[in-house]
Amino acid sequence: MVALYKVPKLSDFSPQALDRHVAELLAAVEAEAAAVKTSDTRKAFRDRWLARKGGILTQVNEWLRSAPKDIKPEVGRRVNQLKLEVEKRVEFKAQQVGKAAPESSIDISLPGIRRPIGAEHPITRTMEEIVQVFARLGYSLVEGPIVESDYYNFEALNFPLDHPARDTQDTLFLANQEGKPARERLLLRTHTSPVQIRTMEKVGPPLRILAAGKVHRNDPPDASHSPMFHQIEGLAVDSDITFGDLKGTLDHAMKALFGSQVKTSFRPSFFPFTEPSAEMFVSCFICGGTGRRGEEPCRPCKRTGWIEILGCGMVDPNVFEFVKQRGYDPEKISAFAFGMGVDRIAMLKFGLDDLQLFFQGDLRFLEQFK
Ligand code: PHE
Repeated sequence: MVALYKVPKLSDFSPQALDRHVAELLAAVEAEAAAVKTSDTRKAFRDRWLARKGGILTQVNEWLRSAPKDIKPEVGRRVNQLKLEVEKRVEFKAQQVGKAAPESSIDISLPGIRRPIGAEHPITRTMEEIVQVFARLGYSLVEGPIVESDYYNFEALNFPLDHPARDTQDTLFLANQEGKPARERLLLRTHTSPVQIRTMEKVGPPLRILAAGKVHRNDPPDASHSPMFHQIEGLAVDSDITFGDLKGTLDHAMKALFGSQVKTSFRPSFFPFTEPSAEMFVSCFICGGTGRRGEEPCRPCKRTGWIEILGCGMVDPNVFEFVKQRGYDPEKISAFAFGMGVDRIAMLKFGLDDLQLFFQGDLRFLEQFK
C-alpha cells in the first residue's frame, strides 16, 4: 500500500519551498499511479486526483488563494504547470490499464453480438424422424459413398449389363471412365440400395440396417423433381423373414410417422433386386383417404385417397449370390428391403407443393422450421 498523499497548507512561499512541494506532489502521483493495476482502482485513483469536488488538484487551488498577493503570479504559474503534469500522468495510467485489462472495460449495458441459432433443415429433420422410428425396431444406421461404382449401384443388385431397368434410373456417370471395366466405372448413386451390398460384404446375417443419404438422377428440377434428393433404405435379413414381416414393419412405421389412422396398401411392382416387389401406398392423411377437401379435390393424393411412399420387396436370391461367402446362403436365409424418398415425405409432412424450396437456401423459408 502506498501512503496516501495529503495536500499540505503552505506558509512558506519561497521558490525553494514551492519547488519542494511541487516535487513531493509529483512523486506522490507517480507512486500512487504505480500501484494502480485494475480499472476499478484506476477510477478511484482518477477521482482522487482530478475530481472537481475535493480532488487533490482542486485542493491545490488553496495554495494560490493563500499566497501573498505579490507572489500569486509565481504560485499560479507553478500550480498550472503542476495540474498539466498530474493530468498527463493520470491519463497515461488510464490508457495503460485500459489496454492491459480490456475485459474489465466491457460495458455490460451494451447489447451483445447476436449469433443467430441455426435450425435443422426440414429434410434432415424428417430423415431423423424416420430413422428414429426404425431405430426403436432395432435397426442401425449405416452409410455408403455417394460416388459409387457400377458394380454396387447395379451389377450386384441384379441389374445385368444392358438390362433395360438401368435406363429407368437416369444415371449420372462421372466423366472419363471409358477406359475402365464396366463394373468399376464411377457414377453418382441413383439409390441407397448399394449400401445393402456394401453392408452384407462386411457383416454376416442376421441384419437390420437403415441407410440414409443423398442420391442423384438426371432429372431436370421442377416442383416435384430434383437431380439430387434423399432416400432411406431398409434391409432386414434373418433365417425366416416373410412378406408378412415386411408388411407389418412398414405398416407400423407409417402409423408412427403419419398417425395411427393411416392405412397401408401394397401393389405389385418390379425391381431387379427384389422378388416379389411392391409399391407401398398410405391412405392420404391430408384428406383422410376421401380424395376431397370439402368441395376441392385433394391435390397431394391426386384425388385417389392414396399416396405412394416407397418401393419394397423380398430380396432376390440372385442378390445373395454376390455375398454368399459372407454367409448369405439363399437356401437358408430370407430378407426384405425397402427404399423411400425422404424429400417427398417431408413435403407431405410440412404441406409444401414445391420441392425446390428445400434446396434454394432462402432464409425466409428455412427460418420457419426453427
Ligand atoms: N432402390 C429402389 C428405388 O430407388 C427402391 C427400393 C429399395 C425398392 C429397396 C425395393 C427395395 O427406386
